Amino acid sequence: MNLQNHMKRSTLFFTISLFLVWGCRPQQPVAVDAYNYPIVKHDTFQHAAVSSAHPLASEVGRYILEQGGTAMDAAIAVQYALAVVYPNAGNIGGGGFMVVHTKEGQSYTIDFREKAPGSAHRDMYLDSLGNADLSKSQNGHLASGVPGSVAGMELAYNKFGTMDFKKLIQPAIDLAEKGFTITEREAKGLNRMKTDFVKYNTQTPAFVKEQPWQDKDTLIQSDLAETLKRIQQHGSKGFYEGETARLIVEEMKRGGGIISEQDLKDYVAQERKPIVFDYKGYEIITMGLPSSGGLVIQQMMEMIKPYPIEQYGFQSKEAINLMVEVERRAYADRTEYMGDPDFVDVPVAKLVDTMYVRSRMADFTPLQASRSEHIKAGLVKEKEETTHFSIIDKDGNMVSLTTTINGAYGSRVVVGGAGFILNNEMDDFSAKPGVPNKFGLLGTEANSIAPGKRMLSAMSPTIVKKDGKPYAVVGTPGGSTIITSVFQTLVNLLDFDMSAYDAVNKPKFHHQWMPDLIYIEKDFDPQARKEVEALGYVFKERENIGRTEVLLVRDGKIEAVGDNRGDDSVAGW
Ligand code: GLY
Repeated sequence: MNLQNHMKRSTLFFTISLFLVWGCRPQQPVAVDAYNYPIVKHDTFQHAAVSSAHPLASEVGRYILEQGGTAMDAAIAVQYALAVVYPNAGNIGGGGFMVVHTKEGQSYTIDFREKAPGSAHRDMYLDSLGNADLSKSQNGHLASGVPGSVAGMELAYNKFGTMDFKKLIQPAIDLAEKGFTITEREAKGLNRMKTDFVKYNTQTPAFVKEQPWQDKDTLIQSDLAETLKRIQQHGSKGFYEGETARLIVEEMKRGGGIISEQDLKDYVAQERKPIVFDYKGYEIITMGLPSSGGLVIQQMMEMIKPYPIEQYGFQSKEAINLMVEVERRAYADRTEYMGDPDFVDVPVAKLVDTMYVRSRMADFTPLQASRSEHIKAGLVKEKEETTHFSIIDKDGNMVSLTTTINGAYGSRVVVGGAGFILNNEMDDFSAKPGVPNKFGLLGTEANSIAPGKRMLSAMSPTIVKKDGKPYAVVGTPGGSTIITSVFQTLVNLLDFDMSAYDAVNKPKFHHQWMPDLIYIEKDFDPQARKEVEALGYVFKERENIGRTEVLLVRDGKIEAVGDNRGDDSVAGW
């Protein structure tokens, strides 16, 4: 080939490459404005999208995606950003679960759930009379498990990262160091928590100030910025060893906690086998143990499959009756059998075996309420404050990630000098297996405390494919309601063919076997309630159920929704 032809070809190749690389990228990635940002509830994007609990975290994700980062790169950046802008549940002091589906069609899950410290033991929350003292498993230093988030993000980065890690964590460092304006909801949350922050901390954290927080006040977290810089420089060693580890252990000593230097050094995040199953032609990819979420969702969807729920209609008495009865049975199984698979033998294959699952519905009579006392005994107990985000990138990589410090603002303990909140995840164990706790709930041996064991979770990050292509990314916080919220959202999308907006924002209900009640949100349809009450069910109104983040791909576009129940916000391009 002569030089001229070669140059022509090269120019053409270069032009085509540029078009391919830049053709579906925005001209100029727009930097995140920490002081001036809208909350975007609902939007449609052509290429890539993020939905998370905080607008700034979604914006960070969008910024990474616009620079050519993958959904996995963006997820790491969003996780760290949430640790700064959403102290309620975003974290480096907690744990979570990540479900990834790559453009090559592979599914992976990462378990970065917290673990019980090495000196934890089965009866550590029992008083001298043998009664469970839940104030210790719920608040303060003794409530914390060994955090997993930093190790989880490192495992994710080593497996999937394409951008420089330093760039992924930098937005979080900037937000912590230079500050950002808080939302009205965050201001209220911090004001509500002030007494606890003062009570459980020996050093005043950045979250406490003399005057009440107001909407649009600036929150600067200098200690947290330094911790994030140590992670930026040394990776997970910047957290589990050295200065940060020293600060955590000192904090434990000051407050009577038991996380040791060795516990931190020993923590490892794990890749687990994803749960993958078919539901009426859709491929559902979700999280397995030590989260119960995926297994319980698989059981429930398998149980409803033989019934024409799409003909019953959304929140008709037939649909609610069926869904409550499958929830009751699946939650009973969860209670009885599920725990950390590294410690207990969970009969996973049996629990999702079609014959077994269907046999669980043998005593179901349509349009009749059964009673939990006749189904099986046990307990489900979860705290509510967790957070979820969903991401799709321009190539069709998808990430569904749910992360938590358990209760709102976790244990309320902020590690002195390190600026981050520790989880109160120990409360997800059964403090006293086999005996009702002070709320009248029961626990079982499968989820009893043991050193190094992971507490059972309900987190249910989920991905859906249709005809081999990305269809939906779904997940939510909400403690024990996580599983039923994801279940309802899936049924809303796959059976009732709803828009993502409706699937997220329509009122939800929840049954968890014990107590034998249907919890409903305040705006639940009164007529539906009346009709279902007539079947023999008891209802109880409660606060919001879940804060679901959904991305839905229909007609080549991504419908992105941030739940109206919070500051949840979407971004994309
Ligand atoms: N802490 C809530 C859960 O893991 O399910």
